[in-house]
Formats: sequence, C-alpha cells, structure tokens
Amino acid sequence: MIAQPSRLELLGSDYPSTDVWAFNNMIPGPMLRAVQGDTIRVRFRNRLPMLSTLHWHGIRLPNNMDGVPGITQAPVKPGEDFQYEFVLPDAGTFWYHPHVATYEQIGRGLFGTIVVEEREPPDVDNDVMWSISDVMLTKEASIAPNFKSLHDASHAGRLGNVVLVNGQRGPAILDVRAGSRVRLRLLNSASARIFRLKFHGHQPLVVAHDGHPCTPYPLTESILFSPGNRIDVILDCTAAPNATFEVEDEFFPAMRNKIGVIKYSSRSPQALRKPFPGLPPNALFEPVLAGAESAKMVLEGGALSNKATREAIWLMNGKGNDHGSHMDSHGKNPDPLFVWEQGCTVRCLIDNKTAWFHPMHFHGVVLRERLPNGQWGPFKDSTLLWPFKTQEIAFVAESPGDWMIHCHVSEHQHSGLMGTFRIASLCKTPAQPKA
Ligand code: C2O
Ligand code: CU
Ligand code: CU
Repeated sequence: MIAQPSRLELLGSDYPSTDVWAFNNMIPGPMLRAVQGDTIRVRFRNRLPMLSTLHWHGIRLPNNMDGVPGITQAPVKPGEDFQYEFVLPDAGTFWYHPHVATYEQIGRGLFGTIVVEEREPPDVDNDVMWSISDVMLTKEASIAPNFKSLHDASHAGRLGNVVLVNGQRGPAILDVRAGSRVRLRLLNSASARIFRLKFHGHQPLVVAHDGHPCTPYPLTESILFSPGNRIDVILDCTAAPNATFEVEDEFFPAMRNKIGVIKYSSRSPQALRKPFPGLPPNALFEPVLAGAESAKMVLEGGALSNKATREAIWLMNGKGNDHGSHMDSHGKNPDPLFVWEQGCTVRCLIDNKTAWFHPMHFHGVVLRERLPNGQWGPFKDSTLLWPFKTQEIAFVAESPGDWMIHCHVSEHQHSGLMGTFRIASLCKTPAQPKA
C-alpha cells in the first residue's frame, strides 16, 4: 500500500480536482477484505513528504504492529517501507490510518477501511460501506493548508466545509429494492467532526459498535457518531417502490448535512426476511468488576479554560505530553500515565473538565461504558466525553505493551490530549475470553 500525493475529483467533474494524499491514489484507500482468523500482510510504502506509520484502528493485535511512532515502532521515513503482519481475531468493520500528524494526514485523505467477514456471514442483499468525513476546501477546491491552527486545536478541531462519503461530496446514493435487507457499515473518518445521524423513514437495527457485535436495537432517534467510530446497521427496506428518504447529520441542527439518500427502485417488493437475529459475538475479554483496578483520568484545557497554554492546549491528568508546540510528534514524554497488569480489569472514571466534546480512544483494549441506568453498554474502542461530564468505563488489560489513549479529534490529540498506558505481563490469573 503506497501513501503518496495524488490528485482526485472530490466534488464531481464540474469542479477542479484536488491535490490530496491518498493510499493507492484512492480516498478512502483500498478496502481490505478478509475472513475472521486470517492473517493480513501489508507492505506500507511511505512516499509522502513526511514521516508516517499505519495504525489499525480497533483491531486487537500485538503491540509492535499498532503503528504508533516512537512508541511501538520507529516512524517510517519518506521513501521507506514497513511490513505489517498480524492475525485478525475479530469479525467486523475496522479501519486504518496514519498515526503521525493525523490532523494533517487524515485531513488530506489518508484513511481506509477493513472488513473482516464472519465465518458465516449474515444473509443480506447488499453490504455497503459509507466512510463519512469532511474536508476544508478553498474556492479553487484545494485543501486549505492551515493544519496547525491554534484556534481549531483549542476549539472543536478542524471542521471542514464539505462532507464526503467514500471520498465524494455527499449525499451518497443507496439504491435499494423494496423488501431487501442491506448491511450498512458506517465509519466516521473525519479528523474532528462528530455527526448525529438520522435515518428518515426507517428504523435501522444497530448490530455492531466499533466492529463488535452488540445486542441489536432499533435506531428510533438519531445517533451520535464520533471520529473513529464504526456503526454497523441492518436496514430493512420496508417502504414502497420509488420512495426516497434522506440520511441526515443533525449534530448542528442549524447546519444539517445530507449524508445519504435511500433510493427505492421501481421493482416490485421482494418478501421481507425474518427479524435479524444479531451477529455472532467476537470472543472478547469480559471485564470482571470484583477486584478491578480503579483509575481516574481528568481532561482539562482548551478554549474557555485558564489551564490552556501555548505549549499544551489540553492536559490529561495534569500533563500536556509536550505535544503543543509541535503538533506532529508523539512527544518527548513517553512515561505512561498508568501501569496495569495483564489480565486485570480496569475501571476508569474519565472526568471532562473542559467545555468541549472528546471522543477518547483506547488502543489495545475493548471497553464498555457505564450507562446512565447503571448497566454496562456494548463493547467499543472509544467513549465520547460530553462537555463538563464524566464517564466510567471498564476493560480488561489484555495484551502487554505501551498503548495510546487519545482524543480522536486529531487536533486535540496532537495538542496535548494524548498519552499512554502500560500493560505489564505480571498478572498470575489472567482473565479468560468470553465463550
Ligand atoms: Cu484511530 Cu490512535 O487511532
Ligand atoms: Cu486506534
Ligand atoms: Cu478532544
């Protein structure tokens, strides 16, 4: 897979094409497809004018394949290659992106998807990926170059002015036949933008979060969808032939974005299938709360806070991790914020003392969120912190190494909201994967 400068039409043929950075000259990069349990081997060839790596977001893999520069590997220099190779233990929807200056490398177009098929895939008529992102374009349709804006970094990140679905200006057209069943895989590959997705006229069934199957539930309201997140839905096309419905983003109600159009053909309806039973679960480590380690993570800084400085706009547990002035490295302060023993369950309370949203992403573990009703939610690889709110999570420290925790608003990540935790292989009673 070659990461290199490229020129692509993002806005359709009526507009000039755009200088981008892309994998194999495509945005998104090539969709990698494999079957659960397969080994994947990718030769990453960096032909960008800067350092890079590939991170395999949400995939449980050995630490040395995680693609974090300065932590799990040396960054790959321009003109050099790096071979990634690992087993895919989980079925689901995953993605890859660089982990160097992600605000710029993702922002210029470097991301792609990975579909790991179930050994017995569900019966659907169509399996569709929507990778939803945004881009900041000038009047000439070129990418606005001010990636290091301190204003963006201290506010909600760099929000683009054009929403893209699969690298093309939205809305995407989803052609369906009445009565058919579609599996729609949604990825938020924006560098900063949170979407709130609303499916008009339908109640798709959410069957997986961040790749991992959950107890299916119908989407009766809109759903928040943060950078890095995946949501798999089963869409039963119950409307009549020739109907059309919009899929909208209503995160900013005054500035709705059309993401997609569900467009029914004129063909006569096919017979509806039986209710969807859910996807087969992945064999994940279930948190064991008795005797769990407790941890606390405090997020501070950003605009409207007196904690922010020019050096570190954001702080995790009082540390800005020395990224503020660079916005490109993974820091000169690699000391882990936490050290946990392999196999132990961690309960972590995250306290967002800032006025901003933070989708906090954990590498190397799969977490559950404590829901307002006291129950533990579905498995995920990140948790969205609301302004001035707390969120408790629990996970099993499963695989040894130093792993990242960071906000997936890339401009926040690279201006302080990034740190590591260490999983030390010391535990004498490792937890067992769920049957
Ligand atoms: Cu999408 Cu550090 O990850
Ligand atoms: Cu990740
Ligand atoms: Cu953030």
